[in-house]
Amino acid sequence: KEIFLKDYKLPDYYFEAVDLKFSLGEEKTIVSSKITVSPKAEGCSAPLVLDGCDLKLVSVKVNSNELKEENFHLDLHHLTLPSPPSGKFTLEIVNEIYPQKNTSLEGLFKSSGNFCTQCEAEGFRKITFYQDRPDIMAKYTCRIEADKSLYPVLLSNGNLIEQGDFEGGRHYALWEDPFKKPCYLFALVAGHLESRDDTFITRSGRKVSLRIWTPVQDLPKTVHAMYSLKAAMKWDENVFGLEYDLDLFNIVAVPDFDMGAMENKSLNIFNSKLVLASPETATDADYAAILGVIGHEYFHNWTGNRVTCRDWFQLSLKEGLTVFRDQEFSSDMGSRTVKRIADVSRLRNFQFPQDAGPMAHPVRPHSYIKMDNFYTVTVYEKGAEVVRMYKTLLGSQGFRKGMDLYFKRHDGQAVTCEDFFAAMRDANDADFSNFLFWYSQAGTPHLKVTSSYNAEARTYSLKFSQEVPPTPGQPVKEPMFIPVAIGLLYSNGKDMPLSSVYHDGKLESVAVNDQPVYTTVLRVTKKEEEFVFPDISERPVPSLFRGYSAPIRLGSDLNDSDLFFLLAHDSDEFNRWEAGQVLARNLMLSLVADFQHNKPLVLNPQFVHGIKSILCDSSLDKEFIAKAITLPGEGEIMDMMKVADPDAVHAVRSFIRKQLASELKEEFLITVKDNKSTEQYVFNHPNMARRALKNIALGYLASLEDPELAKLALHEYKTATNMTEQFAALEALAQNPGKARDDVLADFYSSWLDDFLVVNKWFALQAMSDIPGNVENVQNLLKHPAFDLRNPNKVHSLILGFCRSPVNFHAKDGSGYRFLGEMVVQLDKLNPQVASRMVSAFSRWRRYDETRQSLAKAQLEMILSSNGLSENVFEIASKSLAA
Ligand code: ARG
Ligand code: ZN
Repeated sequence: KEIFLKDYKLPDYYFEAVDLKFSLGEEKTIVSSKITVSPKAEGCSAPLVLDGCDLKLVSVKVNSNELKEENFHLDLHHLTLPSPPSGKFTLEIVNEIYPQKNTSLEGLFKSSGNFCTQCEAEGFRKITFYQDRPDIMAKYTCRIEADKSLYPVLLSNGNLIEQGDFEGGRHYALWEDPFKKPCYLFALVAGHLESRDDTFITRSGRKVSLRIWTPVQDLPKTVHAMYSLKAAMKWDENVFGLEYDLDLFNIVAVPDFDMGAMENKSLNIFNSKLVLASPETATDADYAAILGVIGHEYFHNWTGNRVTCRDWFQLSLKEGLTVFRDQEFSSDMGSRTVKRIADVSRLRNFQFPQDAGPMAHPVRPHSYIKMDNFYTVTVYEKGAEVVRMYKTLLGSQGFRKGMDLYFKRHDGQAVTCEDFFAAMRDANDADFSNFLFWYSQAGTPHLKVTSSYNAEARTYSLKFSQEVPPTPGQPVKEPMFIPVAIGLLYSNGKDMPLSSVYHDGKLESVAVNDQPVYTTVLRVTKKEEEFVFPDISERPVPSLFRGYSAPIRLGSDLNDSDLFFLLAHDSDEFNRWEAGQVLARNLMLSLVADFQHNKPLVLNPQFVHGIKSILCDSSLDKEFIAKAITLPGEGEIMDMMKVADPDAVHAVRSFIRKQLASELKEEFLITVKDNKSTEQYVFNHPNMARRALKNIALGYLASLEDPELAKLALHEYKTATNMTEQFAALEALAQNPGKARDDVLADFYSSWLDDFLVVNKWFALQAMSDIPGNVENVQNLLKHPAFDLRNPNKVHSLILGFCRSPVNFHAKDGSGYRFLGEMVVQLDKLNPQVASRMVSAFSRWRRYDETRQSLAKAQLEMILSSNGLSENVFEIASKSLAA
C-alpha cells in the first residue's frame, strides 16, 4: 500500500507516558505496556488504531477493565479500539513475541545470543501494539526481566533507577528516560557484555559516564570508538554550543545489524564494524568511518532526538542535517579538502545514478510503499548537500544563528523540513527565493556555463542555463536556486579581487566590509541568467563551484588548457582536484569511443605529464595527491554514456592505469620507498596521507604484472605492521589472476580466520574482483564455512561486493544477473530490508544494451512472480520495471 505525504493528518490521540515491561525468554518474550492516552480534542469519537505486526495478543485493558473480543478489532497489521473513552484513559496491552525466530533484524531480535532492538523506521510495531509514528512522543519507562547468567547486562534508554534479583536465577532492571521521544528511538539490550568506561565533563560541568559495550574479547578494540565519542561531544559544544543532556551515554556493538548504527536515546546500537578497530585489524578507512558514524549517531541527540520528524517523509530533516554535521566534524578532525573530495565522489558515484533512475525521488519523497526503502543516498547525502547550501549562502555565523533559532523554536517537537528552512531564513532575514524546490524536485540539475571576455569594456560575463531532468512522476520541473561559489584567476594563477557584479542590469556589491573578495557566491535562480564582472583587466580563467557549492552536474566551456591550468594553480584545492577529474572523464570518454570503434588506445602525453607533476609536487598534501591521481570510477563514466558499456569502460580504465604505471614507474617506485614507515600506527592526517599515497602507488605498480613488482607487493604484504598497508598490498596482488593471487589470499585467510571483521574484508575483496568469470568464485564462497546468509555484513561483502564489479555483474552471458536474482529471492525470506538493497542493483537495467536489458528484465520479472514477496522488494522491483 502506497502512503502519500499529502495525506498526512494529525493524530486523534496522543500518548503521554508509556511503561513497558519485558519478560525475556528463550521460547517467548512477554511484553506488557501501559499507556496514558489523551484524545487530541475533548470528546473525540474517532477509533484508536494501533499498529502491530507478528504479535500474539494476550489481553487489552482500558482503565483496568479487560476488553472482550467484541470491543476491539484485530487484523494482521492493526489493533483497533472502535470507541475508546472520550477523555484521558489508560490502555494496557499484553502480547507475546519470538525474538529468537526474528531474522528480519527489526523489532526485538537476537544477535550472537544477545537480545537487541532496531525500531527505526517502523520496527516498534513488531514489539508491541502502538501508534508507530514519530509525531507520537511520550516519556518511557522500561523494566526488563531475564535470566541473570545468560543476560547479566540489561540496558534501555535513560537512567537506571532500580535493579534487583529474583529467585530462580532471574533479575531485573528498571530504566526511565526523562525525555519525550518517538517510539523509533526506543531500545533494549540484554546480554553477556562488558564495557569500556570513561567520562566526559560537559562545558556546563555535567559529568557524563560513557560506556561502550561489546563481548569481553572485543573490548581492547574500542579505544578508537571512545576517542571518537569524546571528540564528537567536544566538537558539538564548540561548533554548535550543543551539550549532552543525560548522565549516561551507552554504545553497544552487535555483529548482526542491518545498517551502520542507530541513535536510540542514550543507547546507541552499532554494527560491530563501526565500533571495533585495532591497527592490526582495521584500515584507515575503517578508522575514519568509525569516527564519522560515532559522531553521526551522537549528533542525532540534538538533530533527530531532541527535535524529531513529524512524519517519515521528513527523514532528511534529521538525516541530511546530521550527515552534514558528521561531515563537518570529520573535516575538522582531518583534512577539509580530502573529506570534501571523498563526499563529492560518493555523491557522484551513488546518488547521481539513483537520481537519474527509476527510484529517483526528492530529498523529501512524496510517497512510499516501505519507508525502509527511502533510507537512501538521496535523503542522506543529497540532503546533506542541501543543508550545506544554507551554510554556503549564510556563512558559518549565519548558519549557526539559524541552528540556534531552530532549537529555540522546536526543542521537544516533531517538525518538518519547512520548519528548518524557516529557522534559517528568519534568523538571518534572508531571501531564499525558490530554495524549497530542493526538497520537492528529484533529479540532478544540469547547469551550463558559457563565458566571454570583452577586452574593450573590460567585462567578463558568465551565462548560466539550467535544466532539471524529468524523473518518475515529475515530467516538468521549475528552475532551482543554485548557489555558485566562484573565483576568477589571472594568467599568473593568482585570484582576481572581486568587488561588484552586474546582475539583471543592476550593479551589486560583492565586497565584504568594503574589501574585495577572492571568492563570491552568485545566486542563480532562473532558467537562464547572466552575471557580468566589471573592471577585469585580462581574460580570466573561472574557478566555478568552488568546494562544490551545489549538487549539480556542470557543463562548462572550459577547454583542456584551462583545466590543466586550474589543476596546477587554483587556490581552491577542491577545484584543483575537480579540474583533474573533468580532464580524466573527458579522456576516458573519448578512449571509450575509440575502443568501441576498434581503434588503438593511445594515452594523451599531456595527461601523463599532469599526473606526474601532481605526483611529484612535494608541496601538496599526500592524501590530496592520492585522490588526484585516482581515476574516476567506472560507474561514473558509464553514467555519462548514452548506452552504458561496462566492457569498454573497464578496458579503458585498466589501459590508462597500466599506461600510467609503466610511464611513471620510477616515480611510483620512489613514492613507495619514500612513504614507508616503521613507526607505530597512528590515526592522524599526516600518517594516513602517507599510507594512502604509498598504497595507491603500489596498486599502480602491481597492475603491470611484472614479477619484480609483484615481489615488491608481496614484500609489503609480509612486512606490513598494520591492516591498512597489509590489505592494500593484498589488493594490489589480487588484481591479476594466477597462483600468486591464490596463495596470498589463502595466506590472508589463515592468518585472520578468527576475526570475523577481517574475514569480511577478505570476502569483499574477492567478490569485487574484476577477474573474468568471478561469479563462480563467489558462488563457491557462499558455501565457505565462514559465510552466513543471515548476517547482513557478510551478505553485503559477498553479494553487493560482486555487483560492484561492472564487468562481472553485467557479464553478457547473464550469469551475474542470474546469480543476483536467485540471491534476492532467497534473502527475501530471511530479511526483506537486505533483499531490497540487493535488488536495487538491477534498477538501472535500461541503461545497458538490448541483450543485457532483456536478461536483467527477466530476473526482475522472475523476482516479482515469486511467492510471498515482501513489500520491500516488491516496491523496488516493480518501480524498476515500470519507469
Ligand atoms: N537512523 C539511523 C542513522 O542514520 C539509520 C536507520 C536506518 N533504518 C532503516 N530502516 N534503514 O543513523
Ligand atoms: Zn542518521
